[in-house]
Amino acid sequence: MAAIEVEGLTKSFGGRVACRDVTFSVGKGEIFGLLGPNGAGKTTTLRMLAGLYAPDAGTAVVAGIRIPGGPELRRRVGLLTEQPGFYDRLTARENLKYFADLEGSRRDRVQALLDRFALAEHADRPFAELSRGMKQKLAIARALVHEPEVIFLDEPTVGLDPEATREVRSVIAELSAEHATIILCTHHLDEVERLCSRAAFIAQRVVAVHEIRREDLLRIDLAAPFAPDGVRAMCKSLRSSGTSLFIEPLAQVPDIVAALVAAGARIEAVAPHRDPLEEAWLSLLADAREQGLTA
Ligand SMILES: Nc1ncnc2c1ncn2[C@@H]1O[C@H](COP(=O)(O)OP(=O)(O)OP(=O)(O)O)[C@@H](O)[C@H]1O
Ligand SMILES: [Mg+2]
Repeated sequence: MAAIEVEGLTKSFGGRVACRDVTFSVGKGEIFGLLGPNGAGKTTTLRMLAGLYAPDAGTAVVAGIRIPGGPELRRRVGLLTEQPGFYDRLTARENLKYFADLEGSRRDRVQALLDRFALAEHADRPFAELSRGMKQKLAIARALVHEPEVIFLDEPTVGLDPEATREVRSVIAELSAEHATIILCTHHLDEVERLCSRAAFIAQRVVAVHEIRREDLLRIDLAAPFAPDGVRAMCKSLRSSGTSLFIEPLAQVPDIVAALVAAGARIEAVAPHRDPLEEAWLSLLADAREQGLTA
């Protein structure tokens, strides 16, 4: 059964549509990307799924509970939002303890999260003194403090340095390995490619759900265009574009390269290649604009 089932969610603010007829579903333990241009309705959708905004129309079931849901939904859901509402004068640890107590979480959870996000060293400084990245990591820790089974992360790596970005991404992967279901809103397409199994592209409504390819293609750059007929049998699929070949290999890479060279190809580079989400994103955006769906 799906962990999140969203059906026709619609919400306006003062006559202006924030999202319309948003429909998708997310499997248990899945990391699902939510993509779309600024103002597309991603944050509004997450806030409705977390029970913070009531939808004007449509419905959703999150962790078995129909939204808006009340305290039972809040117990099962963790939400990282843009304004996490920390107290400036309390320390990082005191802030986290405050929210842990509010949620009835285990006391040892606070120290575990401070350690997991490399915040222990700064845990006794007032929140106001923390750097932006430290605040962001604390906000993620707060979203996880009650061990929610469904986690909504709205731009979790915004403002983080490369090391902290990596830490946060590995925590996201670990959470999913521990069977948490995650919706990840981000503008970093590489983050989606790395972490998500599928992503929905929304522009006030869901335009498409895109499967993220896990396996790498092989890209072979040649000195000149070349008819690669001799290696077709060694490939599950083969596409040539200008002087490049994009291959899903069936044989070992050195054997494919040797066969091409033997057939007279001059090879300049061989590298793994991912189906770029960016291209899918840009073409979905163009479609959405054509249909007048974007803000
Ligand atoms: N509390 C609110 N009051 C009034 N309008 C709102 C409110 N929240 C969102 N909106 C409007 O709803 C639309 C969707 O906003 P939302 O924040 O959901 O977009 P988003 O996809 O998260 O964008 P971004 O990528 O910039 O974070 C926008 O037009 C925004 O101005
Ligand atoms: Mg947003």
